[in-house]
Amino acid sequence: MIAPRVLIPRDEIKKTVLRLAREIRRDLSGTNPLFICILKGSVVFAADLVRAVNMPLELDFLCLSSYGCGTETSGRVKMRLGIRQSLVGRHVVVLEDIVDTGLTVNYLMAYLKRKRPAGLRLCALLDKPSRRRVPVDIDYLGLTVPDRFIVGYGIDWNQNYRYLPDICYIEDEGNG
Ligand code: PRP
Repeated sequence: MIAPRVLIPRDEIKKTVLRLAREIRRDLSGTNPLFICILKGSVVFAADLVRAVNMPLELDFLCLSSYGCGTETSGRVKMRLGIRQSLVGRHVVVLEDIVDTGLTVNYLMAYLKRKRPAGLRLCALLDKPSRRRVPVDIDYLGLTVPDRFIVGYGIDWNQNYRYLPDICYIEDEGNG
């Protein structure tokens, strides 16, 4: 592996987060929505987004994982921490860092829908549509990325690189 290269610099991430925040505020202002951050990858995005939205809301966390140590999804989504509170009548916004195959979000939206929220929306900072295995509707989309292995701004490779302030990509030396 070689050093990560910048794909989306921090200034562009900031502008994108502000735009998403405006869209969410326009739609959900006054509803005291519940934002659900999907750990671990979405934690940096969620921390910035809730401050940019800057209106009354609640924040909760769900922990899902399917990639383990590799760069390919295992295809099996594991729930490591679920939601304990009632979602009945709540306006829920799921915060995802990246939608890749779509398996994680597909599993997650079905799980949350069973809890009968008043509204269920998906906000994804990044979308990698070239790898999609199942269809996904993204209500608030940040940016579309090419089929590269993305790291940084919360996103890992083998638990590394989450701390990078820019969104970067890594590739094998042979391809780079
Ligand atoms: C990553 C990412 C998304 C998911 C997207 O999570 O944070 O949740 O994969 O991939 P998919 O669309 O192919 O399902 P990961 O399973 O690596 O766990 P992490 O968030 O703890 O890094």
